[in-house]
Amino acid sequence: MFDLPSLVLLLVVFSLCLSLIVFQAITGVPPMSSSSPEAADVVALLKQASLPNQAIVYELGSGWGSLVMALARAFPDAQIHGIEASPLPYWVARFRTRRMPNVFLQRRNFYACDLRDAHAVTCYLMIKPMPKLAAHLDRMLKPGTPVVSLTFWFRDREVAAVRQGPGLRGAAALYFWPAHKAKATEETWSTNT
Ligand SMILES: C[S@@+](CC[C@H](N)C(=O)[O-])C[C@H]1O[C@@H](n2cnc3c(N)ncnc32)[C@H](O)[C@@H]1O
Repeated sequence: MFDLPSLVLLLVVFSLCLSLIVFQAITGVPPMSSSSPEAADVVALLKQASLPNQAIVYELGSGWGSLVMALARAFPDAQIHGIEASPLPYWVARFRTRRMPNVFLQRRNFYACDLRDAHAVTCYLMIKPMPKLAAHLDRMLKPGTPVVSLTFWFRDREVAAVRQGPGLRGAAALYFWPAHKAKATEETWSTNT
């Protein structure tokens, strides 16, 4: 029915599609791209955070490369490091960014990455991984490092600024890590009243 080259091609396409399902099951995050307006919100928040000239920015879960590309265009002197676990989005992003000299992509689990040289971090994930990611950023980031999360926020951290465009798109939140919320203890409450 199929000749050998068509069968091989079919198998490759099937395995790549299967890998999307497998990696979504492993990470718990679908490989959905941010839209251009959402990426523009992330860029605007990072501009507000005044990054150093040759900043190192980590895009955690860089997917098909949409946000990495927007960041690389907006910050041409910065190094944009995209980390993606899923092979198909990773290779597509490699292809899309092949002429962008300030983009560096790694196919890895970002929990296994050393982020200590980060000047900024961005992510667009899901609700479930946010607490684990917060703990990883607590271990890795220098105090005051800007972190921008698209759509899914860190519940117990203080948001410094928000960009929420019109329509149904997700809002982006900027944090200056670790962004702990000040605790209103009973003691301070009683002395203030
Ligand atoms: C919603 S997509 C966002 C893609 C991209 N950031 C964008 O805005 O266009 C999230 C991506 O994070 C990846 N991901 C989730 N957990 C990961 C992990 N621990 N390590 C590496 N990639 C991860 C998923 O495979 C998925 O492609």
